[in-house]
Amino acid sequence: MNKQITQTNQQDSSMWRMSVAPMMDWTDKHCRYFHRLLSQHTLLYTEMVTTGALVHGDVARHLRFEAQEHPVALQLGGSEPGDLAHSARLGEQWGYDEINLNCGCPSERVQRGAFGACLMNEASLVADCVKAMVDVVSVPVTVKHRIGIDKIESYDFVRDFVGTVAEAGCNVFVVHARNAWLKGLSPKENREVPPLRYEIVAQLKRDFPALTIAVNGGIKTDEVVQQQLGLVDGVMVGREAYHNPWWMASWDGLYYQDESKERTREAIEEQMVLYMECEAREHGTNWYSIARHMLGLRNGLAGARRWRQVWSDHRMKTQPPHEVMKLARTKPGETD
Ligand SMILES: Cc1cc2nc3c(=O)[nH]c(=O)nc-3n(C[C@H](O)[C@H](O)[C@H](O)COP(=O)(O)O)c2cc1C
Repeated sequence: MNKQITQTNQQDSSMWRMSVAPMMDWTDKHCRYFHRLLSQHTLLYTEMVTTGALVHGDVARHLRFEAQEHPVALQLGGSEPGDLAHSARLGEQWGYDEINLNCGCPSERVQRGAFGACLMNEASLVADCVKAMVDVVSVPVTVKHRIGIDKIESYDFVRDFVGTVAEAGCNVFVVHARNAWLKGLSPKENREVPPLRYEIVAQLKRDFPALTIAVNGGIKTDEVVQQQLGLVDGVMVGREAYHNPWWMASWDGLYYQDESKERTREAIEEQMVLYMECEAREHGTNWYSIARHMLGLRNGLAGARRWRQVWSDHRMKTQPPHEVMKLARTKPGETD
C-alpha cells in the first residue's frame, strides 16, 4: 500500500509549510484578511462550513472572500459523498485553493451530524467522500484529523486511516496530535486534555514519505515550529496565531525566505481601518465584527491594554473606525 502511494502521490508540499487552523467563529473572512497582512505565504483555513449550509443555505454568505486572502483553504464538514462533491465543486468555483475535510471535530452537534472526529471510525466512508471530491475538483482535497479517538492509542489505527484515505486520492493530511474523546469532554477540553503525541505524526511521515503531513496542536514557539519542520512537512497553528497574531509577521522571513515586506503594527492597523471602511461601504459590515480579530495585535507592548479596550468598547460603535484608531492610540490623559 505504501509503495503505491509513494509512486502516485507527488505534490509540492511547501504550500502547507505554515498554516493557520480552521477555527469556528474566529477564522472568518475578516480574520483571514488581517492574517494575510501579517504573512503573504501562510496558508489560511476557513471556519468549517457544513455541506448542509451549502446545499440549503446562502452560498455567498458562506463562501465570499477577498482575492487578497489567497492561498486559502475551505474546510468542509459532512459525511455524504454527494453533498461533499457538490460543496467541493462550489468551493473550487468560488476560488478556494484547497478543499479540506474535517475529521477532527469532537463536538456533540457535529457527532449528531455523523461527521468530524467520529469519521475516523469509518475510514472507508472517508475514502468514499474524498474520492467523490477528487473526482470533481482539480484543487487538492485534504483531510484534517486526530491521532485517535476515545481510548484508542494504537498507532495502527491512525496509520490505517491515513493509508485508506490516501488510496482514495488525498495526498495531504493535517494531524492534530491528540486523541478526540467523544464522550465527556467539551470541544474546548478536547483541545487541552488528551495528551499531545507529536511522535505519532512524525511516524506517519516516515511511513508515508510521499504524502504531505502537517502537524497541529499546542504549537506556540519558533523553536517547536523549527523542530517539527525537521520531522514533517508543515505546521498548523491555531490559538497562538489568533491570540498573538504579531508572531505571524516573522513567518515569511523565517519559513519562506521572503524578507521583502517590512511590517509595522501601526501600518497593519491602518490597513485594517481602510478595510473596515470598505466593508462598511460595500457590504454594510460593522467595524467591530472585524476589529475583534485584531485585539491581540499589540500584545506585549506598553499601552496594549488600553488599545485593546478602545477597539473592543461597544460604546464606540457609532464612531467611524479611523476615530476609534485615533482614540486607541491616544495615551490616557492626552487630548488632541
Ligand atoms: C475557537 C476554535 C474553533 C475551532 N473550530 C474548528 C473547526 O471549525 N474545524 C477544525 O477542524 N478545527 C477547529 N478547531 C481546532 C483547531 O483547528 C486546532 O486543531 C486546535 O485549536 C489545536 O491547535 P492549536 O493548539 O494550535 O490551537 C477550533 C479551535 C478553536 C480554538
